[in-house]
Amino acid sequence: MHEMSDSRRTFIKSAALLGVGAAIAPFPAWGIARADERIRIGLVGCGGRGTGAALQALNADQGVVLVAMGDAFKDRIESSLSHLMKEPVKDRIDVPAERQFVGVDSIDQVLPLVDVVLLCSTPGFRPEQLAKAVAAGKHIFCEKPVCVDAPGYRSVLASAKVARAKGLSLVSGFCWRSSSPERAIYGEILGGRMGEVVSVHATYLTGPLGTHSRQPGWSDLEFQLRNWQHFNWLSGDHLVEQAVHSVDKINWAFGGRHPTRCTAIGSRFCREEIPERGDIYDNFTCTWEYEHGPRAVLMTRQQPNCFNLNDDWINGTKGYASVNGWGPTHWIKDYSGQTIWSYPKDGPTPDMYQVEHNTLFKAVRDGRPVNEGEFMADSCMMAIMGRMSAYSGQRLSWDDAVASHEVLCPESLSDPLPIRKAPRPGQHGLSI
Ligand SMILES: NC(=O)c1ccc[n+]([C@@H]2O[C@H](COP(=O)([O-])OP(=O)(O)OC[C@H]3O[C@@H](n4cnc5c(N)ncnc54)[C@H](O)[C@@H]3O)[C@@H](O)[C@H]2O)c1
Repeated sequence: MHEMSDSRRTFIKSAALLGVGAAIAPFPAWGIARADERIRIGLVGCGGRGTGAALQALNADQGVVLVAMGDAFKDRIESSLSHLMKEPVKDRIDVPAERQFVGVDSIDQVLPLVDVVLLCSTPGFRPEQLAKAVAAGKHIFCEKPVCVDAPGYRSVLASAKVARAKGLSLVSGFCWRSSSPERAIYGEILGGRMGEVVSVHATYLTGPLGTHSRQPGWSDLEFQLRNWQHFNWLSGDHLVEQAVHSVDKINWAFGGRHPTRCTAIGSRFCREEIPERGDIYDNFTCTWEYEHGPRAVLMTRQQPNCFNLNDDWINGTKGYASVNGWGPTHWIKDYSGQTIWSYPKDGPTPDMYQVEHNTLFKAVRDGRPVNEGEFMADSCMMAIMGRMSAYSGQRLSWDDAVASHEVLCPESLSDPLPIRKAPRPGQHGLSI
C-alpha cells in the first residue's frame, strides 16, 4: 500500500496508465444487448453512497448481478453486504468472501471480474481509479467529486476522452442532472426563456459532518480515511466534496462555459481543533467571472447552529429563476414579478439516484454510450479553483488553476502521516 503512493502521485501527474497522447483506435461501442445476459457489477467504496448506488444499479436492470466488492476496510464491505442482503434484489448478489477485496488498491482485484464498476470511495483516489477502470475497458458510474486537484482534473479529462474512444459509458454522480424538475428548469434557462444568464447566486449552508475518534490499532492512514471528509487530500475540502453540487448547477446554468477567473475567501472558524477535524475550512465564498461580465457567487459553510439553505438564484436579461431541489422550488419570473414558467405540481419526480443508474444500464444494454466526463470534471475543477483562491488569498485565472501541479496526495501513505495545517490566506502558495 505504501509503495503505491509514489507511483500514485506520478500516475496522477502523467496519466501514464492511459497512454494519453497516443492515438487510440476507435472501438465499436460495446453493450450487453440480450436482456437475459448478465451484467456483472463491482462496487469500489462500500460506504453509505456506494451501498445506495449498488442497490440502484441492481434495480436498474434485472440482469445486473453484484459479483465483487472492494473497500479500504473489511467492516465496510460487511456492513454494506448485510444491508444489501435485506433488499428484494438479494438473489442477484453473489459476493462470496473470495470476491471481497480489502485495501486502498482493492479496485485492481475488482476490475477483472466485472463489466461495470461503481466508483464510490473517497474522492482523493478517484482519478486513479477512473483511469484504471477505463484502461480495463469497463463501463463506469463515477461519484462526485471526481478529482481534488488540477492534476486529477487533467487525468479525469484524459480518462473521459479514452472512455469515449473505447465506447464505454461514464455516468457521474452529479445527481441533480438526473432530477426531472432540475432538467426541466435548466432546459428552460438554456433555451433562453429568461434571456441570457448574467448571474447566479448559490448557497450551500449546512452543519458540520460527523467524525470518528481514533481506535487502538488504527494507523494514521486508517484514522484519516475514517474521517476522510475532513482531510483535504481525501475530500478536496467541503467546497469540493459537498458544495460541488451547487458549483455543478452554476456550470449547468452557464451551459458548460469555463469561467475566466475566480476570487474566493474562506476560513476555519468554528471547527474544533481536534485531529478528527483534519485540515479543512468551514466556510467559503467564491466568485467566478465569465467572459463579457456574468458572475456566479457561491456561499457555503459547515458550521453548527446556523441558518441552513441550499438554493440557486439565477438572473437572466429577461427574468430570474429560483431553484431549490429540497424545497422543492422551480420557477422563472419576469422582472414584473409574473411567473413565466414553473415545474408542474404534479410533474414527475422520480428518484434522481435511480435515474442515474437507469441511464447507465440502458446505455450499456443498448450499446449507446453515455459520457458525462467533461461536465463532471469541469464542475470539480471550478470548485478546486475556488479552494485554491481561498487558501492562497489570490485571484486566479482558469488557465492558471488548470495548469497547477499541486498534488494533494501525500508522498507516502505510511505512518507517520501528519495532519496538515489549514492554510492561511496570503501565505499559502498556488503551485502554478
Ligand atoms: N451524489 C450524492 O448526492 C452523494 C451523497 C453522498 C456521498 N457522495 C459521494 O460519494 C462518495 C462516498 O461517500 P460516502 O458518503 O459513501 O462515504 P463513506 O465514508 O460512507 O464511504 C466511503 C467508503 O470508501 C472507502 N474507501 C476509502 N478509500 C478507498 C479506496 N482507495 N478503495 C476502496 N475503498 C475506499 C471507505 O473505507 C468507505 O467505506 C464521496 O465521493 C461523496 O462525496 C455523493
